[in-house]
Amino acid sequence: MEIKKVLVLGGGTMGNGIAHVCAQYGYDVILRDLTDEILARSLGVIKKNMERQTAKGALTKDAMDAALARIRPVTRNEDIGDGVDLMVEAIFENVELKKKEFAVMDELLPPHAILATNTSSQSITKVASATKRPDKVIGMHFFNPVPMMKLVEIIRGYLTSDETCKAIEDMTLKLDKTPIEVNDYPGFATSRLIMVMINEAIFAYWEGVGSAEAIDTGMKLGMNHPMGPLALADLVGLDICLNVMNTLAAGYGDDKYRPCPLLKKMVDAGHLGRKTGKGFYDYTK
Ligand code: NAI
Repeated sequence: MEIKKVLVLGGGTMGNGIAHVCAQYGYDVILRDLTDEILARSLGVIKKNMERQTAKGALTKDAMDAALARIRPVTRNEDIGDGVDLMVEAIFENVELKKKEFAVMDELLPPHAILATNTSSQSITKVASATKRPDKVIGMHFFNPVPMMKLVEIIRGYLTSDETCKAIEDMTLKLDKTPIEVNDYPGFATSRLIMVMINEAIFAYWEGVGSAEAIDTGMKLGMNHPMGPLALADLVGLDICLNVMNTLAAGYGDDKYRPCPLLKKMVDAGHLGRKTGKGFYDYTK
């Protein structure tokens, strides 16, 4: 199956990046969000990021103009129109909300269309259960910032077909990204491994093994990580980290996924990292 027209649901941090790369590589894109203001902001971010690529010589001015012209913003489902081959959903990380939108899109979109979610931790199988086409529901997990990051983690739900996986893998390659295929278990591969490392770094800090700077410098210079785990936790948001750890703990029922008590306490105190100005580091100065 050849994908030509893509509906991106949600134009936030991830949705605008997904719309950007799809338009850049020649796909017609419909970008759906809740209000005109959000969509205007989203298109502004896409334009600014494309201009940065143009300044670096990674994209010509003509290619940029053509890509921007391929994105059609809409706020109403009635305006999505015909012929969508793929939906990539990037709305809030709430499984009930995702299920609701998947049920609506299952009714609205053509029977051949693939319904993908960019979720970083929710069950693809559960989201698929809200539709009558679970064989065409799949995880297509992009990374932030989407235009820069090479990986797409493709997550196969319990009922996802080989044909659906193949179509998403082919498209990932066309977007000049590298696909990995994994099965649908809590945290998949990437979120599970990175969060366990972050949580363990928080335990080490809490137990007094070393300062935040010492732990982060150890992982940067000793292990060649681009960023230390505590600085990364601040960037991701400590509430998100706790949420993923709780998903892992509930999904596997294993003590090794127990969130560090310090992580819980910092979330209760509203120290969520960069977005609140304080986390393991102080960003207020
Ligand atoms: P965000 O909060 O920046 O954007 C979500 C957007 O969805 C908002 O613009 C919101 O107005 C819109 N939205 C909400 N309900 C909607 C609906 N019913 N119809 C249309 N639009 C709707 O969220 P973000 O960070 O982009 O995350 C989106 C998804 O991507 C989540 O599932 C998240 O777990 C996943 N993800 C996030 C990453 C990140 O670094 N932020 C990385 C990888 C995955």
